Amino acid sequence: MRIGVLGTGGVAQTMATAWSKAGREVTLGSRDPGSKSLEVLVRPLADVVAGADVAVNATPGADSLDTLIAIGAPSFAGKVLTDVANANTPSFELVYPNSSLGEKLQDALPSAHVVKTMNTAAMTVLTDPASLGPSSVFLSGNDANAKATVAGLLADLGWAEDAIIDLGDITTARGVEHYFLLFAALMQAGGPNFNIRVVR
Ligand SMILES: NC(=O)c1ccc[n+]([C@@H]2O[C@H](COP(=O)([O-])OP(=O)(O)OC[C@H]3O[C@@H](n4cnc5c(N)ncnc54)[C@H](OP(=O)(O)O)[C@@H]3O)[C@@H](O)[C@H]2O)c1
Repeated sequence: MRIGVLGTGGVAQTMATAWSKAGREVTLGSRDPGSKSLEVLVRPLADVVAGADVAVNATPGADSLDTLIAIGAPSFAGKVLTDVANANTPSFELVYPNSSLGEKLQDALPSAHVVKTMNTAAMTVLTDPASLGPSSVFLSGNDANAKATVAGLLADLGWAEDAIIDLGDITTARGVEHYFLLFAALMQAGGPNFNIRVVR
């Protein structure tokens, strides 16, 4: 399976390294690939989507919708689009207080299978869950097969099956995106090395 991660920031590089270690083929997508000197192959955004089975949105959430629309909705046809972005302002306000980036992306790219995940903890934690005790990670999306594919990518990173909580369709992305408000407060209170765990 070819994974195309859109963005070349800390999150994109952390994910690329982790999935490469797990044996996946990963390419990073950049607005200016020629300016990057990274260990992972960096290509233009549209080329990365075209060559990927699974695209991962790791661009700044406030810019993601415009960025992915500019790549072109037809490019995403039939592909899994894993959205890990949080759409917030520099002052940590929600960009979509009555909706979510996940829903906006699904509306704008109707033939993509958008799966919201990996936005509820620091990426260092999400790509190495064993660094903490047992905790939870979430899936939101309309397509069961796409969520199963993403669950497999989470398993690659060490997530146990019972730690992966399928919340339902893409409208449930609103919950995990609005959690950013609590995440930011917890981070300011005690640093980024934490996660939440659902106990029943
Ligand atoms: N920090 C975490 O631990 C964490 C955890 C979960 C989720 N997230 C989410 O992951 C995403 C990426 O985080 P990050 O810290 O890696 O972000 P970042 O460093 O600010 O940006 C990511 C990359 O996106 C591209 N980019 C920057 N501005 C852009 C724009 N206006 N339009 C299109 N592309 C742009 C850049 O790559 P090029 O210059 O190569 O184009 C940049 O390196 C964010 O949405 C964040 O909320 C972060």
